Amino acid sequence: NEKSLLLAIETSCDETSVAVVRDGRHILSNVISSQIDTHRQFGGVVPEIASRQHVETITLMMEQALEQAGVKPAELSAIAVTQGPGLVGALLVGGVAAKTYAMALDIPLIGTHHIAGHIYANALVHDIVYPCMALVVSGGHTELVLLEREGSFRIIGRTRDDAVGEAYDKVARALEFPYPGGPHIDKLAVSADDVIELPRAWLEPDSYDFSLSGLKSAVLAAINQARMKGETLRTAALARGFQESVIDVLIGKSMRAVREFGARQLLLCGGVAANRGLRTALAASCEAAQIPLLVPPFELCTDNGAMIGAAAHLKWKTGEFTSLDMKADPQLSL
Ligand code: KG4
Ligand code: ZN
Repeated sequence: NEKSLLLAIETSCDETSVAVVRDGRHILSNVISSQIDTHRQFGGVVPEIASRQHVETITLMMEQALEQAGVKPAELSAIAVTQGPGLVGALLVGGVAAKTYAMALDIPLIGTHHIAGHIYANALVHDIVYPCMALVVSGGHTELVLLEREGSFRIIGRTRDDAVGEAYDKVARALEFPYPGGPHIDKLAVSADDVIELPRAWLEPDSYDFSLSGLKSAVLAAINQARMKGETLRTAALARGFQESVIDVLIGKSMRAVREFGARQLLLCGGVAANRGLRTALAASCEAAQIPLLVPPFELCTDNGAMIGAAAHLKWKTGEFTSLDMKADPQLSL
């Protein structure tokens, strides 16, 4: 059944978001309440506070999503929700809301994987062609995923330590930028006229895995060294060195994966897809290789309900529903 009208809930981290999505591609509403201002004062997401804020806002978000879409609860086909991965307490809130609605309306529940959501955000704006390769880069994830067919996911590479966004945020924190610091580093890097070269972690020649902790340590060491010697810190040159090192490896491995697996498109997704340096360099590499690059608009790159609706639609089509005793799973595998 290709037709669906899904109410989709995302509460895996610090965004409370609910969307109404038709047929896995048309966004009727996508309301998002971000907690960034609350967490900023702590320099990062505080899980306990995240759960409490979700509890406070989820009902309002559900109501607003339906109202903005002009949809009555009785018209919904199913309720979709992020089952994992994410913060367990945060996932629980969305999970309970989803189960309650599914039970009250007597319609199916569709537990959805957060990364499948990030990848299928692309389906809301583009036509995906298979096989394709997805580069997922966010605050919590760094993965290269091969999609041989619709809805089939094979992780061929992942980070062995920090996620890309996490490394950006840690470096930004050391340079005294507010959370989340990724966009600040990006801006600084793009504007720098010189660069401090930093190492690139290619790992084993055939590996598609990533490692960012060594690079992060190199930046922290450079900062400490400058402070100890009383030198002025070349902040922009350092930001550029960090960004170039990250981008080189992400692009090098993505393009090699595209070639090796015969991918017909490269999909970029997750919050770090907003990075200007990454977008520009990846677009150039894809053009040279004559591979279409798909990137969702910014508001669909960061966590949102619509992407969960897009991914859940695939399960709706195959009738893959989730029982009402679904458990939130912080380590859910793709
Ligand atoms: O996907 P997302 O909203 O949340 C997670 O699921 O993690 O990603 C947020 C991450 C943060 O680490 C943030 O610093 C990073 O994306 N980010 C950026 C940029 N914009 C957001 N990192 C680098 N450059 C950017 N322009
Ligand atoms: Zn995410």
